[in-house]
Amino acid sequence: MEFRKIEVVPISGNIGALINGAQLNALNDETFEEVYQAWLHHCVLFFRNQKITPQEQIDFAQRFGEIHFHPYMKGLDEHPEILEIIKEPGDGYTFGSVWHTDQMFNPKPAKATMLYAHEVPKKGGDTMFSNQYLAYETLSKPMRDMLNRVKTFNVGDGFRRGIGKAKRIDRYAKNPTMQAKIRDPGNVSTEAIHPLIRTHPETKRKSLYIGSHTQTLDGFNADEADSIIDFLRNHSQRHEFTCRFRWETGSIALWDNRCVQHKALADYDERRRTHRITIAGEKPI
Ligand code: SIN
Repeated sequence: MEFRKIEVVPISGNIGALINGAQLNALNDETFEEVYQAWLHHCVLFFRNQKITPQEQIDFAQRFGEIHFHPYMKGLDEHPEILEIIKEPGDGYTFGSVWHTDQMFNPKPAKATMLYAHEVPKKGGDTMFSNQYLAYETLSKPMRDMLNRVKTFNVGDGFRRGIGKAKRIDRYAKNPTMQAKIRDPGNVSTEAIHPLIRTHPETKRKSLYIGSHTQTLDGFNADEADSIIDFLRNHSQRHEFTCRFRWETGSIALWDNRCVQHKALADYDERRRTHRITIAGEKPI
């Protein structure tokens, strides 16, 4: 792929690229198109030294699609599209610190997520990303053939498996800032059945679609489902599929939830503050 407006620098063998030469509040259509193509190809993009206002972050996000509102967490009063994630020293829980893909519990899960770093720890607090096209493609053919017909059952809260604290409200027991953002999802659906193998609507490639929201497999006995999910979870996080991003103030990461799992590393005890926007997606097929 040739780029004339931006420089695209892969940061690992199989996923993730740093984009140089793009100020996100001043992208013309041609440059945006290159960014978009690089994003589809590399699955997650990173930008350094961005200085954009909340409204400019929203404007850039809207070029990817409609904003999605988190059903469980309130956004900023003046910009409800933006969820401010804050971790303070002593907070017990780190938002997003298990492998997952965003809003998988929604019948139409998020297409993309953009995270903008405002305050970062001196050490730690990196984010990991894993390429789920490769997670699918590296399975044996008999395994792929079997999984192609399987459906997952996914929930947004009260996890049976995959996370230490089942309820969201308990996870943030020592993090009052985040606990204050929790809201009742009301009539927004927070359970969903999805194909375990999905086809990306734009690239047409197949990927493994699993994460910590996945509780069981439709129609399987619980012990069968648990074994398959455990195997696939481990497989989907193989180091060769991943990259790791070191944040700086002004960094932005933008990932494609249709083919990427990610995980925030809970290895720090300092203040970290980010602004997160998710883009609405379509029903996976
Ligand atoms: C998320 O899971 O959306 C947050 C990732 C992070 O804070 O690094």
